[in-house]
Amino acid sequence: MRSVSDMETEILYADPEGFDEAVNAAVKLLESGEVVALPTETVYGLGANALDESAVAKVFDAKQRPSFDPLIVHIAKREQIREICELSPELDEVVQKLMHAFWPGPFTMVLPKKSIIPDIVTSGEPTVAVRMSAHPVMRAVCKQVGKPIAAPSANRFGRISPTSANAVEKELGGKIPMIVDGGACNDGVESTIVRVELGEKRPELHLLRAGPVVKEDLQKYGKVIRPKKARNVAEAPGQLDSHYAPATPLYIFDKPEDFKPEPGLRYALLSYRGASRDGYIDLYDWDVVEELSPGSGKLTEAAVRLFFVMRQLDESGVDAIVAETVAETGIGVAINDRLRRASVPQEPA
Ligand code: TXA
Ligand code: MG
Repeated sequence: MRSVSDMETEILYADPEGFDEAVNAAVKLLESGEVVALPTETVYGLGANALDESAVAKVFDAKQRPSFDPLIVHIAKREQIREICELSPELDEVVQKLMHAFWPGPFTMVLPKKSIIPDIVTSGEPTVAVRMSAHPVMRAVCKQVGKPIAAPSANRFGRISPTSANAVEKELGGKIPMIVDGGACNDGVESTIVRVELGEKRPELHLLRAGPVVKEDLQKYGKVIRPKKARNVAEAPGQLDSHYAPATPLYIFDKPEDFKPEPGLRYALLSYRGASRDGYIDLYDWDVVEELSPGSGKLTEAAVRLFFVMRQLDESGVDAIVAETVAETGIGVAINDRLRRASVPQEPA
């Protein structure tokens, strides 16, 4: 429900006809210290001028995001990284290779920051997360503003990331002045985040968040290290356990037989491909079944549909959602990661 203090949220279509107008309007708002929701290839982001502390504060406010969770900064050109990151010649060499391999694209690097980036953006961390999006709207806006744009996913804190303008409106409608509608997101899960360090022999790529750029892609450029589970968020920003969560409780099980339905409750199944051999479909008379990759079982398709389907099930009125996990390979790692974080923690047996 909207409160009296809510504002009107304008939605502009960045279709071929409306593209320039939408980009210009977004740029104008950003230059005046406002926030705007923008499409990227992964999920929609809530953008603000990263060099303007009070604009960035509005992002935290609209999302109800705690100040200890730092934001990703988006740039338009590779050279801009030198304006915001402190890179030794050795680190610069590694970073150049990575950005030529994966930018523009769903890939974020955590690197030592320069003082031009305000502490509010990085939650006081000495590092900043940087990415260059491939989405034409985000690129055009960043380029025209000429400054780095801080943009976390455009959802309320801890909720499902939005992969369409409609989902952004449901999350933040009334809290932000504008959403630029650039259609559905191509990748569907958030960018891969890697903290880049020099290491002793080879560069170390600390995988802070699994995403569309997968471990196999990264291995060519350094030793991929999966950080140990952090005890608290202050220790490892970006690794909050509970995240991406629907309001309806979502459960995942080690094996289908572990599902013990409670009488009288209505259950939905979030199935990978709706196939009997996955073990869940025939287990129960589900009230609703949604498939991530109907029939074909393609992980990339499953990733694109994941948050959309989670949202649909959340709105379907069931009491609980049971989700199948997918193969732990390629982008399946990111899908399982989001499902685990969206799920209700199981009590240890
Ligand atoms: O695909 C994406 O990355 C999307 C689009 C909009 O670009 N953005 C996104 O932002 O997912 P957000 O804020 O929802 O997630 C950023 C993650 C957070 O978990 C945050 O803790 C982590 O990046 N992060 C940001 N700065 C960091 C830093 N200096 N060190 C470690 N983690 C950082
Ligand atoms: Mg997020």
